[in-house]
Amino acid sequence: MGRSCIPKCKTARLMGWLQIILGSLVILVSILSLTRFYYAGFFLHNEEICQHLYTTIKDVNHGFDAKALSDRVEQVLDMLETLQGKLELKEKEMEKNKGIALDKKYLEDEIVRPLHSANVALRQIRLPKIEEGGNFTVKEDPLINYFVTEEIRKYITSKENRIGKINLYGSDKVYNTIGHACVLHKKELERYMDYDIGSYCDDDWNLAQKLMLNGCDPLPRRRCLTRASKVYYKPYPINESLWRIPDERNVRWGNYQCRNFECLSSKNPKRGYSKCTGCFEMEKEKVKWVSNTSLSTDFLISDVLAIKPGEIRIGLDYGIGTGTFAARMREKNVTIVSTALNLGAPFNEMIALRGLVPLYVTLNQRLPFFDNIMDLIHTSGFMDGWIDFLLLDFILYDWDRVLRPGGLLWIDKFFCKKKDLDDYMYMFLQLRYRKHMWVISPKSKDEVYLSALLQKPPRAI
Ligand SMILES: *[C@@H]1O[C@H](CO)[C@@H](O)[C@H](O)[C@H]1NC(C)=O
Ligand SMILES: *[C@@H]1O[C@H](CO)[C@@H](O)[C@H](O)[C@H]1NC(C)=O
Ligand SMILES: *[C@@H]1O[C@H](CO)[C@@H](O)[C@H](O)[C@H]1NC(C)=O
Ligand SMILES: *[C@@H]1O[C@H](CO)[C@@H](O)[C@H](O)[C@H]1NC(C)=O
Repeated sequence: MGRSCIPKCKTARLMGWLQIILGSLVILVSILSLTRFYYAGFFLHNEEICQHLYTTIKDVNHGFDAKALSDRVEQVLDMLETLQGKLELKEKEMEKNKGIALDKKYLEDEIVRPLHSANVALRQIRLPKIEEGGNFTVKEDPLINYFVTEEIRKYITSKENRIGKINLYGSDKVYNTIGHACVLHKKELERYMDYDIGSYCDDDWNLAQKLMLNGCDPLPRRRCLTRASKVYYKPYPINESLWRIPDERNVRWGNYQCRNFECLSSKNPKRGYSKCTGCFEMEKEKVKWVSNTSLSTDFLISDVLAIKPGEIRIGLDYGIGTGTFAARMREKNVTIVSTALNLGAPFNEMIALRGLVPLYVTLNQRLPFFDNIMDLIHTSGFMDGWIDFLLLDFILYDWDRVLRPGGLLWIDKFFCKKKDLDDYMYMFLQLRYRKHMWVISPKSKDEVYLSALLQKPPRAI
């Protein structure tokens, strides 16, 4: 009797110890989480704090995001609960089958690792700080508990100036910003921000552009090295580059259907892009804006510049293209910045390799220019009858902000359905610009082109 007891008693004793150890681990983690709440003042018996917390929790946008915070806490609690369940199951198993023993692998995979990640998740939770001095202002970096990936959290955490200097507007912090719609694309953004610091980034500009076009704009910065083309060859000199198709070795083609510039020709049905077809053929580009066509909506650059001789020096080309407008204007000593998105073809690289400045912006954002500075805004090829009226309205007012008094707005072959023309015309005319040119011509049976050259009035108010 005594003999048969020995192994049994040993297992029971071992089990007892194990339970005590694991139990205390769970208690430790729970205490840890409680302490963090304690330090945050959540359990102080102070009516003011309670009242304050009550009101802030009601008003989520004021100060901190209670929902994101409770989501993160819940995530940790779930992890602990799962762990506890596993331990209890194992305990029962051991009870039933006395011979079973805990092996190292089980301990490591099923207990230590989950416990570790629960611990990390707990530490990642940022609790709002309550300011001293009885004001109880709760401050939290916006969205800090919403994102889980550490690199995003590091990016959006505000950075205090090291010597405590306060800027002109009273802030002692620098805020890195992201587009608010990033919260709609949490998974993709976390994939985008998942890299090893200092190593090579994935070749994922396409994912980045998708995020930007879906409203996650601006995107966070990253701390990984962007890949470049394997055989980058120096660009052509400027006297040649403006009107020459660039060297295809200078582009990373991995995310396109095409693998070289010839393939992007409009004759190729499988070229992989639809905006600005033919823009990669120099013989077609060379005639734009310099030679008369049968369409009265095609204005010539020389006619436009003749309206303000010598006055047009800087401008913006807002659309999708390969920089031909900027190239022509450069020959007239006018500096043009061209907006560009890589929609199925390397528009940005093409413009830059021609020796011109591509501006990588989407429709989502306020233009990164100050008020009343541009002599000219030219727009073609991007916005047409698909565009929402309210969106167009915001864009028009933004252009107006950027244009200087006396600056020119050149709407180049905007097209839409005939029945929508009156609405669009109203929008273009509402700003009461002076009309230098205004031409409407048919595009197809039920579509029309509208080209206009308008001048911003002075606003000495
Ligand atoms: C509390 O905040 C108000 C403004 O929000 C400020 O004028 C006041 O000085 C603050 N009081 C303390 C004690 O920080
Ligand atoms: C461009 O300029 C370089 C020197 O600056 C010259 O050697 C070359 O011939 C020029 N190319 C053309 C096409 O004019
Ligand atoms: C375009 O046509 C107009 C007359 O219709 C003419 O005066 C002008 O010189 C022509 N320009 C070019 C570049 O052919
Ligand atoms: C552009 O500037 C250069 C140098 O200042 C000058 O030689 C040239 O005539 C100008 N071109 C035009 C079209 O004004």
